[in-house]
Amino acid sequence: SSSLTTPLKEEKVLDLNKYPGGEITVYYGTQTGTAESFARVLEREGPKYGFFVHVMDFEDITVEELASRTNETDGIARAILISATYGEGEAPDNAIQFANELCDKANTQILFQQIKRPEEPLEPTCLQNVQYSVFGLGNKQYDHYNSMAKFLDHAMERCGAQRLAETGLGDDDDDLESDFENWKDQILWPSLKKQYLQHEFVGAASTPETEWPECPYAIEYHPSTTTAASFREDQIHSHSRHYFTAVDCPVRVTRELRTDQDPGSTVHVEIDLSGQLQYQTADNLGVLPINPPAIVEQVAQSLSFDLDQVFSLHAAPNHEWHGAPFPMPISVRECLMRYCDLTGAPRRSDLKLLASYATDPIDQKVLLRMASKEGRNEYKEKILEEYVGLAGLLQKCPSIQMPLEHFLGICPLLQTRFFTISSSSSVHPNTVHLTVAVTQHERKDGSLFQGVCSNHLASPSLDTVRVFVRASTFRLPKDSSRPILMIGPGTGIAPMRALLQEREYQRHVQKKTVGPNILYFGCKTSSQDYIYRDEMEAWAQNGVLDHLRVAFSRETVGKKVYVQHLLADHSEETWKLLEQEGAYVYVCGAVKMGQDVAEALNKIVSAHGNLSHDEAKAYLSKMSAEGRFVQELWA
Ligand code: 2AM
Repeated sequence: SSSLTTPLKEEKVLDLNKYPGGEITVYYGTQTGTAESFARVLEREGPKYGFFVHVMDFEDITVEELASRTNETDGIARAILISATYGEGEAPDNAIQFANELCDKANTQILFQQIKRPEEPLEPTCLQNVQYSVFGLGNKQYDHYNSMAKFLDHAMERCGAQRLAETGLGDDDDDLESDFENWKDQILWPSLKKQYLQHEFVGAASTPETEWPECPYAIEYHPSTTTAASFREDQIHSHSRHYFTAVDCPVRVTRELRTDQDPGSTVHVEIDLSGQLQYQTADNLGVLPINPPAIVEQVAQSLSFDLDQVFSLHAAPNHEWHGAPFPMPISVRECLMRYCDLTGAPRRSDLKLLASYATDPIDQKVLLRMASKEGRNEYKEKILEEYVGLAGLLQKCPSIQMPLEHFLGICPLLQTRFFTISSSSSVHPNTVHLTVAVTQHERKDGSLFQGVCSNHLASPSLDTVRVFVRASTFRLPKDSSRPILMIGPGTGIAPMRALLQEREYQRHVQKKTVGPNILYFGCKTSSQDYIYRDEMEAWAQNGVLDHLRVAFSRETVGKKVYVQHLLADHSEETWKLLEQEGAYVYVCGAVKMGQDVAEALNKIVSAHGNLSHDEAKAYLSKMSAEGRFVQELWA
């Protein structure tokens, strides 16, 4: 770990008149930046309540270091843990190390894997001088709702830390930001005040909302010819690693997969890795999108930025530096284009920040109203449902003006998007195929919102794309004679196409004995979005696919036919494959579909195996643990 983890007491002495509550550290575990932005809200609010708040990445800390960040006055380390739960109930990447260490220390099983075992009381405990509270970012659509937060709470307590305030659980399927606000306003701050403040504190509470928030960055401008410096790994912000390591690869093919009878679009993209990257069949490809030039120019115009200026960032005085957020020195154009999320919906807390930069009282009033709890519905209607991003908001509120470093302090980073690769690395060692559903929504005024990454990939003029490879959980059985059962409606077909290419290669090129391949695919109608139809039908013809079963959801009147219905129609066959032939099951697509499929499988297992619902669930969990039941689902 780095110098960021110096104990608080070695830093300069805290002004207890200004911060009578002392120092608190907020740790965040995040996949997309939301947990960090919540931590930043607490950082900004701290002084108002009489606390100095530090924000730290879980990646930069060990359990021992957390316990060593104690307050001079009472020897207590105060830790607020904010973490997302990721995938099938896992820790976000930046918190994996911390979670594993804490798991060992607590001598517990990681709860999110749900392999609970009886736990002995712990003696001695290592976090006795720690007081903590946890907030979790989860999504009720997933089975392992907020399991990371539940784990943190449980493990901290087992290690002897004292819970200051009840854990808050946020649901991204509903209104995550409100859940967070309610937790911090009604539970966290009141508990902290009660615990650490002797007297009612009226500090900076009266800061007017028109005052600019503190900017974490200082900016330095360079001659226009200055180019990016090289950075060591430990000089890079942990969330920005891929900005420094992804490589530009040529795009060879971009082809529409739906027919012109379908208003929607799914494109097939082939990217030439040219020996720069390697992958395995059905891995994930991380794609770094770029913003369209028109949007970049509009933002620069709204805020009077000179796109050709070259700059670099440093920490502002009194601010910790968490590493370079992107390669620098960099031109304003490149920075806005590649690293700034200009079109994603601003959070309500962002609107509050933006309001302080608006000089027109009307702009300010509208922004503050939408940022308030009472303005939630207006925010939903005018921002979320209308797909207004930062760029659109600057256009609607032209009185917002701010220096570049302030803009970079509040604009979220443009996130990498992951796609499941739809090709086999044996058949296409130098090329990855992607199957990309193109996101577009019409706004009330008739203009189009276009999702930044899918539209970037679908663009016919795209020459190269910046990418990196990440392992996925889709792996074929080592014993190729095992049957595989694939369920992937819509773009969920991507990994199935890759697996089928690989199975065909195993059979025809490697001359292996390959077990049965069964595919369940679903789409609206046979004449609109039956993507890769030719390939699937050819595989059904030549025997690579033993069964091709397609659910057309909009060809029947009354009841929709989905993949899980077809699966239920073949329940006896499915049971035989699972129980007698050790089949592997792969599911990819939307979360709701995945749950419905899991439920259908449960019914099959319980009916034919004579098991209760819970026993059938355990049967499927065991299959997952053995890598025989793989699901990659997206919300
Ligand atoms: P629908 O749009 O007609 O409801 C690919 O998107 C296919 O998945 C479509 O045919 C879609 O049907 C279907 N689909 C939607 N919800 C589903 C669910 N819960 N389970 C299975 N398939 C679903």
